[in-house]
Amino acid sequence: MTSAAPEDAPRRLRAGVIGLGWAGQQHVAAYAEDPTVDLVALSAMEEHLLAEFGERHQVPGRYQDWKEMLAEAELDVVSIATPTFLHATMAIAALEAGVHVMTEKPMAQTGEAAATMVEAARRAGRVLEVSFNHRQRGDVAALKSVIDTGVLGPVYYAKTGWIRRQGIPGMGTWFTKAASSGGGAMMDIGIHMLDMTLHLLGEPEVTAASASTHAEFGPRGRGGSGFGISQVESGAPFEVEDLATAFLRLEGGATMLLESSWAQWIPEDLCYVTLYGADGGATIEWGGGPGNHRITVWTEVAGIPAELSPEVGEDGRHAAAVAQFLQKVRSGDVAAHDGSLALRRARVLDACYASARAGAEVQIEG
Ligand SMILES: NC(=O)c1ccc[n+]([C@@H]2O[C@H](COP(=O)([O-])OP(=O)(O)OC[C@H]3O[C@@H](n4cnc5c(N)ncnc54)[C@H](O)[C@@H]3O)[C@@H](O)[C@H]2O)c1
Repeated sequence: MTSAAPEDAPRRLRAGVIGLGWAGQQHVAAYAEDPTVDLVALSAMEEHLLAEFGERHQVPGRYQDWKEMLAEAELDVVSIATPTFLHATMAIAALEAGVHVMTEKPMAQTGEAAATMVEAARRAGRVLEVSFNHRQRGDVAALKSVIDTGVLGPVYYAKTGWIRRQGIPGMGTWFTKAASSGGGAMMDIGIHMLDMTLHLLGEPEVTAASASTHAEFGPRGRGGSGFGISQVESGAPFEVEDLATAFLRLEGGATMLLESSWAQWIPEDLCYVTLYGADGGATIEWGGGPGNHRITVWTEVAGIPAELSPEVGEDGRHAAAVAQFLQKVRSGDVAAHDGSLALRRARVLDACYASARAGAEVQIEG
């Protein structure tokens, strides 16, 4: 006979994961490690991955057909880690089946598709969350705490970017096709920097974007990496940008420069946030791998100019993002967690791509 769970134990949740590439594997690990969750179902096209992860974590339900999984597995929560063009269809179906959804970033290819997901979450009364795991990093958490003390004063200018030396995800996979990804480096890694920086700044609205996009490496078959396990269509044209730059206006008059690149003539990967405040400045420098983070803060202490190096704690990453999602589900406050924040991010990217096409600044409606 099993003993009854203590009365204050969190409600056990039945979880599923769709997609078993790098991203999906992070969600699988997060659920498998959580003692309050039963990971009961996986879905992916690759039979060998279903077998490998199913056996490793003793997951009973293994499906190549995700709709069958939704119909049979009696899920409370599901993570969607499939190519971006599938996020909206899968999320809406899951929400309509009464399942709380965490989808990978970017939320969808367009703000319009993202808005349909938010509407579905509201209709269904279920949580919709987007996995912005980089904001769970130790450096971001530490700098956020520093900023929240007010030591920088009002931050009126931010520069942020992620520039890879050689990091175009699998050439000829969904990543490099416009119809399946919705965009290139900005959609893929720029979105993390946008999210992280807006989070650090306290979530100001972005009111306008002026951006440009370039594709100098991909079309020549250069700058590729091994990211993305999906089927490669060899010789498929490279249809997205490998570099995007954007100048963003924020409510209250602050501005942000955002650069994202999958491949560039630089010695090593570069990922940074630089904040300029009235009373202090700060930077995050990150070499692109686990750990390897540095924060520096410049301000005055007792009227004396000071350079501070706050200690960086452990990275929370996907496990922390999934834990936060589960907390939101258990809170029952579905109205506060309907995907609206991620929708705002999607609208900023829409405006950036529209601006790049038009060669002019684009306003973002509130
Ligand atoms: N948050 C992060 O740090 C991070 C990192 C990488 C990727 N991502 C995001 O995660 C998502 C997936 O990226 P990836 O690199 O893991 O992709 P991937 O191509 O490596 O893997 C995609 C997975 O989706 C599965 N899939 C595709 N169509 C399916 C279908 N119809 N039914 C069931 N499964 C299906 C594939 O079988 C595969 O297992 C993308 O949205 C990407 O932007 C996020």
